[in-house]
Amino acid sequence: MRADVIIVGSGAAGLTAALALAERLKVLVLAKGELTSGSTAWAQGGIAAVLDAGDTFEDHIRDTMVAGAGLNRQQTVEFVVERAPHAIDRLIGLGVPFNTAMDDSGGDALHLTREGGHSHRRIVHVDDATGWAVQAALLAAVEANPNITLMPGQACIDLITGRHELRYSGSGRVWGVYALDEATGRVEAHTASATILATGGAGRVYQFSTAPRGATGDGIAMAWRAGARVSNMEMMQFHPTCLYNLDVKNFLVTEAVRGEGGRLINPRTGKRFMPFYDDRLELAPRDVVARAIDSEIKRFGLDYVHLDISHMPADFVRSHFPNIHEKLLGLGIDMTREPIPVVPAQHYTCGGIVTDLHGHTDLPGLYAAGECAESGLHGANRLASNSLLECLVFGEAAASDILARWGEFEAPPPVCAWDESRVSNSDEEVIIKQNWTEIRRFMWNYVGIVRSTKRLERAQHRIRMLFEEVEDYYGQFRVTTDLIELRNLLQSADLIVRSALKRHESRGLHYTLDYPEALPQARDTVLVPGMGRSKGR
Ligand code: FAD
Ligand code: SIN
Repeated sequence: MRADVIIVGSGAAGLTAALALAERLKVLVLAKGELTSGSTAWAQGGIAAVLDAGDTFEDHIRDTMVAGAGLNRQQTVEFVVERAPHAIDRLIGLGVPFNTAMDDSGGDALHLTREGGHSHRRIVHVDDATGWAVQAALLAAVEANPNITLMPGQACIDLITGRHELRYSGSGRVWGVYALDEATGRVEAHTASATILATGGAGRVYQFSTAPRGATGDGIAMAWRAGARVSNMEMMQFHPTCLYNLDVKNFLVTEAVRGEGGRLINPRTGKRFMPFYDDRLELAPRDVVARAIDSEIKRFGLDYVHLDISHMPADFVRSHFPNIHEKLLGLGIDMTREPIPVVPAQHYTCGGIVTDLHGHTDLPGLYAAGECAESGLHGANRLASNSLLECLVFGEAAASDILARWGEFEAPPPVCAWDESRVSNSDEEVIIKQNWTEIRRFMWNYVGIVRSTKRLERAQHRIRMLFEEVEDYYGQFRVTTDLIELRNLLQSADLIVRSALKRHESRGLHYTLDYPEALPQARDTVLVPGMGRSKGR
């Protein structure tokens, strides 16, 4: 199909961009699986914005930079924080029913909850299922817009670049994507003058992750293969409180539980342990809390720690966390009366495709927004609830830039069709499953919360061997979504490990036993393509 602009991804970043662009342009949104299959629909806690009279932009900026251990780009932090109230207004305009509470003068005001690393109450939310409400409102607006075509069930494989032009022009531009139609198994070229990657994170590279199944780093890997730089991929965020349950492996228990009084308890000693680690207690930034839990688990040989909010009135707990309460009841845990077993799990990809304040990547015609991008907002550790905000601000920023410069964009040229002449149907799907499991396991064990050079080198060794196997398989067989994801998962793992090996210090989310101190100056880890191993078709 041909459009003015192609957006890959139907989460908060992609749909925000689509709505803004559709004022004047024809937009095609492609999404793997269902339209609600990204992380956006799963977000619980809320969206950070300065909306309280006692709060200031300066405080939100400072909290973001403190959490990010100084690796953030200050200009980006200011850009995003200052646009937050407007982004929330837009969502309210689309009908997102944020919770309200009575203010001092007896009127209705947005209810603001609190999360780790925030010096004020500043998180707007819809109960404990904010993401679902945001996703639903954006989707309803997009579905009603005649300038937007939504195509779910499209697993994008690679970007179409200058080298795929039928008559090579040397323009070096990105002209769209090759995508697998998951229903028919056919690969189509979709072309456009501009392409926005809004493909979310790479959380599924880890064995335990709160992220949905499709968070396999596809956009990051596609941009890297096409020649864009990526940065700070070692900064993988682990959420401190994922439910510990042998059957339900990735259910998040929102940080707002701690924001509203929840305490972390060592089940062996029965003692609250955060006072031993940080003055900010349970509301220290995530990297600090996750490391504290990891340390308790390792020191005491525990399977999990307890998160306890049962000292608060039962009505308060039920009304603030209705969905979590119900989910846990179904698993036999009544959080109004007993503690919740929790463990840290991968949660957010702070690094990604290098972008500027307009969402530009290194490649002409290619933009990136949301979790797949490294805009400079999060630095070495994302402040809670700054992520949906980043999607809203940069979805809009990328769209504004395209609209403002539309006269400069050329129409896409004819491009090569996808070449399947040398491949056949796979007869060994087991290889995909085996490799997928192997990557996720060694990434968890060797590239987790606490790292060492030796463990990182072990991971790198395995990645090198798997590259050969996966590329060989990719070169021989027809693509499937599983194969596309495996290839991207492996590429993401490689970028994470290479970045981690390059950082000779501990900062934010990257903690290594070999370099336990932070260096005096914070520097981004920027990987430049050219040494990537993927061949592509
Ligand atoms: P996503 O919403 O992840 O969407 C990605 C899209 O890309 C999907 O449509 C997917 O199908 C598509 N896609 C991916 N690969 C391909 C491909 N190859 N081809 C075609 N399409 C593709 N952040 C907050 O700020 N507040 C919170 O309270 C919060 N809670 C969270 C709770 C959970 C459980 C999780 C996992 C995350 C949470 N986050 C939260 C983080 C936040 O939800 C995400 O960072 C954000 O939603 C990412 O949005 P996105 O638009 O970048 O990508
Ligand atoms: C949460 O609700 O704890 C997640 C918030 C976030 O990831 O920003």
